[in-house]
Amino acid sequence: MDRITRRDMLAGATGAAVAGIAAPLAAAPSPESLDAIARTRGMRFGSAVNWSAPGADAGSFANPAYARLVEAECGLIVAENEMKWQRLRPTPTAFAFERFDAILGWAERHALAVRGHNLLWHQPKWFPQWLNDYDFGARPRVEAERLLTTHIQTVLGRYGTRIGSYDVVNEAVRPADGVLYDTALSRATGGPEPTLDLAFHTARTAAPHAQLVYNDYMSWEPGNAAHRAGVLRLLEGFRRRGTPVDALGIQSHLVTQGPDIGATVGRQQGEWRHFLDAVTQMGYALLVTELDVRDNGLPADIAMRDQGVADYTRAYLDLTLSYRSLRDVLCWGLCDRYSWIEGFEPRRDGARRRPTLYDDRFRPKPMRAAVAAAFAGASMR
Ligand code: G3I
Repeated sequence: MDRITRRDMLAGATGAAVAGIAAPLAAAPSPESLDAIARTRGMRFGSAVNWSAPGADAGSFANPAYARLVEAECGLIVAENEMKWQRLRPTPTAFAFERFDAILGWAERHALAVRGHNLLWHQPKWFPQWLNDYDFGARPRVEAERLLTTHIQTVLGRYGTRIGSYDVVNEAVRPADGVLYDTALSRATGGPEPTLDLAFHTARTAAPHAQLVYNDYMSWEPGNAAHRAGVLRLLEGFRRRGTPVDALGIQSHLVTQGPDIGATVGRQQGEWRHFLDAVTQMGYALLVTELDVRDNGLPADIAMRDQGVADYTRAYLDLTLSYRSLRDVLCWGLCDRYSWIEGFEPRRDGARRRPTLYDDRFRPKPMRAAVAAAFAGASMR
């Protein structure tokens, strides 16, 4: 689908998008997609997409309402869960590609680029249980390296140039102290660094065309200093050892800190700039990979809450997009109805979370306008 067709769709069609859902559409959506606006600055806009059974009320490509919203707004997508070991590797010897294949096929039919997330989520909590319990035998290092390299080579070999960017390693740094997690794999291979390095070297060889990303959630809010410092140490180590890492994926699961957005931003922006300066001075590109906002400390009133979230998002993007190596911004879902946040951290007052660009009834919110304005205000890449 070319850009004009997609824009046409957006002009008339988020309404069509909700045809399968009983909720009415109040506001007419903007006539210009976020991806189209981003592209005027040399950037792209995208979102996470899930798998579901056809027609399920889910944030899935197989839900026509959600699919049309993504097709209307996005130039690229990422599978929220279907490339993870937990989904792709039911057993040590099997791969289950069907669900990811279905997402990729849909994306390609709609001319959406696809990112891969992820090849190694380096925490025991996110390993399949069989991997935590695995018997590495008499030569544990050899067997661990075989398992990891086979996984990456199989996935990258299967998808070739259909995927242009991978989160090779996800969340390897402990937020509390900045130290790297140990896992069954790292204990067998002799430490976390050799394990992560092997993942990147294997990915570079198997997919020389692809952008290789380290992806993590260190953010600009208070309480993230140790996490940011740990990520910087990891990135420095990659450079020192010649590990082929191209970019830092900044997840951007933002959390408002109270109603005075200006004061919050004023307190947080210096440290954030300092962090991004350090990352980019090492030669890493940046991506925003999983943007959404937890509306903590904002009143339950929807108009006030949505405006606070929008202002916070705008300030964050204005600063972060000022780094011109940043070309891709992806949200972790586009519709409040399907966001992971409600299940992860509900609001204390019981009001439903409103973390994304579109509300439960697929109506655009002020956060969408904030993202559009941030793209429009960004410098050309
Ligand atoms: O699909 C099964 C369902 O059949 C089962 O009944 C249910 C019972 O728990 O689980 C369902 O799977 C859940 C899946 O989300 C789909 O809803 C998994 O348990 C749950 O662990 C999984 O959570 C995902 C989480 O990563 C762990 O993989 C979230 O959807 C996803 O949004 C989240 O995404 C992460 C990024 O990968 C990395 N960065 C942080 C981000 C948010 O946590």
